Parts: sequence; C-alpha cells; structure tokens
Amino acid sequence: MSSTPSPTPERPTIGVFDSGFGGLTVLRELLRLVPHARYIYLGDTARLPYGSKSHETVARYAVSSAHFLADQGADHLVIACNTATALALDDIRAALLIPVFGVIEPGAQAALSASHKSLFRSAPERTKQVDGGAEKHASPTTSHHAPPPKPAHALVLATSATTQSHAYTRALTALGLRATEKACPLLVPLVEEGWISHAVTAEVLRIYLLEALCEAPDASILLLGCTHYPLLRPLIENTLHELHHPMYVIDSAEATARAVSALLPPSASTEPPASTFYATDSIEKFQRLGSAFLGHPLNEVHLLDLGG
Ligand code: DGL
Repeated sequence: MSSTPSPTPERPTIGVFDSGFGGLTVLRELLRLVPHARYIYLGDTARLPYGSKSHETVARYAVSSAHFLADQGADHLVIACNTATALALDDIRAALLIPVFGVIEPGAQAALSASHKSLFRSAPERTKQVDGGAEKHASPTTSHHAPPPKPAHALVLATSATTQSHAYTRALTALGLRATEKACPLLVPLVEEGWISHAVTAEVLRIYLLEALCEAPDASILLLGCTHYPLLRPLIENTLHELHHPMYVIDSAEATARAVSALLPPSASTEPPASTFYATDSIEKFQRLGSAFLGHPLNEVHLLDLGG
C-alpha cells in the first residue's frame, strides 16, 4: 500500500516565526519549495535579539509568538529561529496542537547527507589523498588494516544561546557525527547593519573561523546555525578558501524548507503564494531590512504588540 498522502485541495497555512528579520531567509526557501501555501510571518523585532537571552525568556517570547500565529489560523508552524528552536521547541510543541517544525533537526540531517559525499571526508583524509594518492593506490590488504574512518566532523556557527544549549551537538551526535559549536555573537549585529560584504565583517569572520578551526581542525562540514548567516555565505566561502580549508556549507534555512515540503501533503492548489507579515517593532525598518533577507520587497507589514 502506498504511503503517499492523497492530494488535498486545501492550501496549508504556515506560520513562520523568528526573533526578527532573519527568519525571512527560511520563508524565502519555503516560498521556493512550497509555493502553494499561505504564509503568516511574525518577526518579534521588539524583543530581538534572542541569541543573548536566557532559556526562560526565549521560551516565554517564543510561546507567545507561536500562540499568536496559531490564533491567526496557522495549521503548521515553522520556528525559523535557531535560538528559539534550541531553547523552546519542546515548550512550543507542548503549547500547540498543530505540527511544529524547527530548524535544527533538518540542519543536522543535511549535515549527515553531506558527510556521505566523498569529497567532504575529514580534512586530513582529503589531504592524504591529494598528497599521496592514498586512495588510488590502496590495496585490499592495506585498506583491511587501516583504522575505521572517524565520523565526519561538523562545525556549527550560531548565537551564544544556541551554542550554550548544545542542541546542535545533541542532534548531530545522535546521527553519528562529531560536532563543535562556535558562538559568533558579533555577526548578527553586523548583518543587521547591512555589512554583509564589509571588510570589518570579513575580519570578524576570519577570526571566528580561525578560532573554531583550531578547535576542530578536521571539520569538513560548516553548518550555518543562525538565520542571519546565509546572507554571509559568499563571505564565509571566500574566507574558507583563503584559509585553505574548503568545507561543505549547510544552510539550515534551505534544509528546513525541504523538510517541510517533504512532510506536507501534495496540494491541488495552483494559487500563487500569499504572505502576511507582522512585526513587533518599526514597520519601516522591517520592510527595509526584511527585503534583503527575503530577496524581494515586502508589501504590507502589520504592527503587533505582544507585550514584554
Ligand atoms: N534568529 C536568531 C537565530 O537564528 C538570530 C537573531 C537573534 O539573536 O535573535 O538564532
């Protein structure tokens, strides 16, 4: 018997929530991969950043935002914020009756898929192959005595609250990968300033990556564990190139949209996507910064007061 759900004429209404603008990188991917849905996006800009706040505070903010989206008619919820997923996924799932997706599990699954790609075996293995052609010349006897390869090592860049929770380490080690987390607290304000290819950001990124790679020299996968980092992807790839440390870069935003798309039943709807936006602080700032994250101008944004 096929397990494929039968097509439904209904369009899903997907609530997408983030501490601010960054989750629009997830919405951008959702619009690409699940174009038939209706979207309600909430950016809790008045209480941003979440990445430097305590577990209790983030959970309280995130649950109130999730309730708002469910009250607006969302039948699915995507927590587009890595910090809120790390600290409040269980609280949100306990508070709502609708399916709730976070960004961490899909990011970890994407890291696992990347680890299967031979090009991205651990760095020393790659070097061995380049230097000595070890793989090409290995005989069955030598490979028989070779120690089993270590699991691939993923380096996660994220906010301080996310790294302190170790949610990514738990998700990655549960899949058999090794993990090192690196807090990069300066990157969110730099991205929000629009300095996505600025020399200062490049230098900050170089320092963070050098520090992280000292701790994890054989890391071959780089997981972008914060909504803002996909905007820095060209700069990150360029920095890795300059450091002679190529890595497989994973964007949790794209991985999450793929996970949502895989779990939603196929829809018969041919209507174009529809999005409604809410922000808890300046509408003007949300429209201005949000368009960079979303990749196109935002139309109407509603101001919302969720309290303190
Ligand atoms: N959205 C947050 C995250 O993905 C970054 C911004 C913040 O600290 O609130 O972790």
